[in-house]
Amino acid sequence: MRIKYTISIVVFVALVIIEKENNIISRVSDKLTSQQTPQSVLQPSASLHMLLKHNASLTTRSKMNSAFTLMKRRLENYSHHQEVLTSTRKQILLLATTRTGSSFVGEFFNQQGDNMFYLFEPLWHVEKMLTLESGGTNATAAAKAYRDVLQQLFLCDFSLLESFIEPLPVDHITTGLFRRESSSSLCAESVCSPVIKGVFERYHCRTRRCGPLNLTMASQSCLQKEHSAIKSVRVRQLETLRPLAEDPRLDVKFIQLVRDPRAVLASRMVAFAAKYKNWKQWAMGGNVPLDDDEVRKLKGNCDNIRMSAEVGLKQPPWLRGRYMLVRYEDIARFPMRKATEMYRFAGMPFTPQVKSWILKNTQVSKEASGVYSTQKNSSEQVEKWRFSLPFKIAQVVQRACGPTLKLFGYKFVSSEKMLIDKSISLIEDKVFNFL
Ligand SMILES: *[C@@H]1O[C@H](CO)[C@@H](O)[C@H](O)[C@H]1NC(C)=O
Ligand SMILES: *[C@@H]1O[C@H](CO)[C@@H](O)[C@H](O)[C@H]1NC(C)=O
Ligand SMILES: *[C@@H]1O[C@H](CO)[C@@H](O)[C@H](O)[C@H]1NC(C)=O
Ligand SMILES: *[C@@H]1O[C@H](CO)[C@@H](O)[C@H](O)[C@H]1NC(C)=O
Repeated sequence: MRIKYTISIVVFVALVIIEKENNIISRVSDKLTSQQTPQSVLQPSASLHMLLKHNASLTTRSKMNSAFTLMKRRLENYSHHQEVLTSTRKQILLLATTRTGSSFVGEFFNQQGDNMFYLFEPLWHVEKMLTLESGGTNATAAAKAYRDVLQQLFLCDFSLLESFIEPLPVDHITTGLFRRESSSSLCAESVCSPVIKGVFERYHCRTRRCGPLNLTMASQSCLQKEHSAIKSVRVRQLETLRPLAEDPRLDVKFIQLVRDPRAVLASRMVAFAAKYKNWKQWAMGGNVPLDDDEVRKLKGNCDNIRMSAEVGLKQPPWLRGRYMLVRYEDIARFPMRKATEMYRFAGMPFTPQVKSWILKNTQVSKEASGVYSTQKNSSEQVEKWRFSLPFKIAQVVQRACGPTLKLFGYKFVSSEKMLIDKSISLIEDKVFNFL
């Protein structure tokens, strides 16, 4: 784009000098316009054009020169601006909810290599503090805090996040960052400070012995990387992140990861047994009350996920080219293909490190059925929940989350028999358009 632009400027200057003909200048400036040159840059050529047309005196050499000097200065301003805009720094925000495979998908980015700064659930601290402070979460206040912290983190600024970390870091040093070891960037050599003797070593990294996290070092390391990625299960509405998409300093791409809500519930009932004890009781015996808080919460979660996706798929101007929807089930079945698509969408290089991590962790066998073959039997893995979730609970989810299931292409089951019939897939082939 910049090369093309430079060429047309050279052509423009050459044509003006050689020809000085109104019609040619007009043609060239039309061409500039068609390349969507900013107004401020266009002004000199446009005014030059006007003056050439209406005021013959401008054709004197000195006036011509000053017009070009002005134009050159504006172009210099423009190319500086352009440099900022075309900087290759890119950011990915992986948005999900719990039990949708987001840690696994986050690894696709964590494993990218030396040019990626990856953060795992930094908003955990924000949620924790807001919940403690208000005894419940004020969704509006939380959304604002999440947005601001994410925005700063994408700019490699940890100061706002720091204010949510407990205990409060001293001199930007902390031993309390949530799951530091899940971010290879925070355990890299350059971010690894010496171990302090006698201090409990729980903040050490898996791959090397590191002392407490120095967030100044983390920030410096972040600034040196071209790309960054953050995974979060805490953002409720994509719409609340609009200022990130519109921030000229950033180039954020949003990847929303979704999963069949029936499978999510089945998984949560195991993973968060205490919190889901009502569901377990219902699964084992009694009837599910129709207007129970738990059911309302489930519906609320589904609605948030669906509304975010609807905003994304509608592609409002602020999100154009910045939103991608991915289903967990497709990633589980075609990990390499989906990872490639995500990287292509993000405009980041799909490195051999990512590829080999995926191969290692999904046991994709090249021999089985081509490069993009699935795990040994991942369609079985993906649909395992069908044998643990009772039909009546599946029905409750279908009632609460109907429009969500429909939007993402998850088939309803109409009987116990259908639920456990392996020959019927509940995942419709669906292509979600982006870009
Ligand atoms: C270039 O940018 C500077 C700073 O933004 C501004 O003061 C100056 O007027 C600009 N020059 C031209 C020729 O537009
Ligand atoms: C929630 O937070 C918003 C924004 O900070 C505030 O205006 C509102 O009063 C809060 N609501 C409650 C119920 O505390
Ligand atoms: C943290 O890192 C910064 C930048 O490297 C350094 O200047 C500072 O002294 C470090 N802080 C401590 C307490 O080591
Ligand atoms: C995996 O399971 C699905 C559904 O049960 C079946 O259609 C497919 O042939 C199986 N694939 C392998 C490799 O066993």
